[in-house]
Amino acid sequence: MLSRRGAQWATIGFAHGEQNNYNAATNPKGIVSFANAENSLMHDDLTGFINEHNDFDKRCCAYGEGYTGTLCLRRAMAAHLNAHFHPANNIGPEEITFAAGVTYLNEASTLILCDPDQNDGIMLGRPVYGAFARDLAMRTNIHLEYVSVGDTDQFSPSCVAGFESGFEAAKARGTNIKALMICNPHNPLGRCYSRETLIGLLRLCASKGIHLISDEIYALSVYERHDRESETFTSIRAIDPTGIIDPSQVHVLYGMSKDFGASGMRLGCIISQNEEFTRATRATCRFSSPSQFSMDLATKFLEDQEFVAKFLKRSHHCLLQSRLLVEDLLFQEGISYSQKGNAGFFLWLDLSAFLPLHETGGDGWAAQRLLTDRFSKAGVIMSTGAEYRAPSPGRFRLVFCVDPDTLKEGIRR
Ligand SMILES: Cc1ncc(COP(=O)(O)O)c(C=O)c1O
Repeated sequence: MLSRRGAQWATIGFAHGEQNNYNAATNPKGIVSFANAENSLMHDDLTGFINEHNDFDKRCCAYGEGYTGTLCLRRAMAAHLNAHFHPANNIGPEEITFAAGVTYLNEASTLILCDPDQNDGIMLGRPVYGAFARDLAMRTNIHLEYVSVGDTDQFSPSCVAGFESGFEAAKARGTNIKALMICNPHNPLGRCYSRETLIGLLRLCASKGIHLISDEIYALSVYERHDRESETFTSIRAIDPTGIIDPSQVHVLYGMSKDFGASGMRLGCIISQNEEFTRATRATCRFSSPSQFSMDLATKFLEDQEFVAKFLKRSHHCLLQSRLLVEDLLFQEGISYSQKGNAGFFLWLDLSAFLPLHETGGDGWAAQRLLTDRFSKAGVIMSTGAEYRAPSPGRFRLVFCVDPDTLKEGIRR
């Protein structure tokens, strides 16, 4: 007999990962996965660097400096962030805590800021990265308040009024919002928040006395378009908080998984100027400590900023080429998608015109499930708008960072 909690988790159906990936030559009947947000286009470059630098140091056999990030790694990450995020105040290694991925640190932030028995909750815009639901709430039992601020635009300053209404509506229902969580650049819309919007959101958080958590894991996966205006990334730390918000209410998440195509390294960090918050985070990192070997490799990588600059330049080139190819393929098939945005690894498809509504008595969400089943039978998987809390049915997130053959085969299917 399991605990109530255990029995509930057992129903979630989180399986071991399967590997039956499509390959034109070796596995033509395999599955085309457009689901995992990974930059596999950069795996060869990363592998090349690691294979040149992987002399296993005997320090990696030990617990070493422990669970929260070696000083070398925190120093290298601080230097990297100071070089690329243009923080208003220099980021120091003492502000940074590492764990085995941002996934865990998202949960840790919730554990540290919210009390489930006080009806505490976190507010998010919608649509948004679907796994936040599990990462923030599965083990913490806190409330998530999804706020509709428009299907494709939660980035203009007008979203602030939407979040304010969301906050007040939650309060009226007895939910005590403790933080606003944003994802910048955004997953799944691939867009960046403007400086003006970020200032508005900081002011809102200050006025409500809540924290702002900014997941900036795609910060340097922003590629420039040559055919139209591109958005640029502004870190929340690039805004001088003086006169806006107490800096102890602002926390940033970053990691190796996305910008460096290194999700298998399992390394994420949280950057916070709130010493009490940081002490609490460090204590919880005991349960999700990063591997010394991963930390050693990541340190060597981040210390080599000349290589990092070359790597990012190539990454941006590959992202743009892949985005242009997928746009071309979708155009040929008459499939719409959200055109804005120039960040991340994905496109937000609008398949509402293809929903089999006549088979579901007009129920759009049921029609989306049916369409998802059909894709799956045809050997294509994607994240759905339902998982991403899209306000209306028919949306799917397509990850385009796969090789051109796989991209073409997936769209054909
Ligand atoms: C917005 C966002 N945050 C966090 C993660 C997970 O990061 P990590 O691999 O560091 O656990 C993802 C992965 O898709 C993501 O999209």
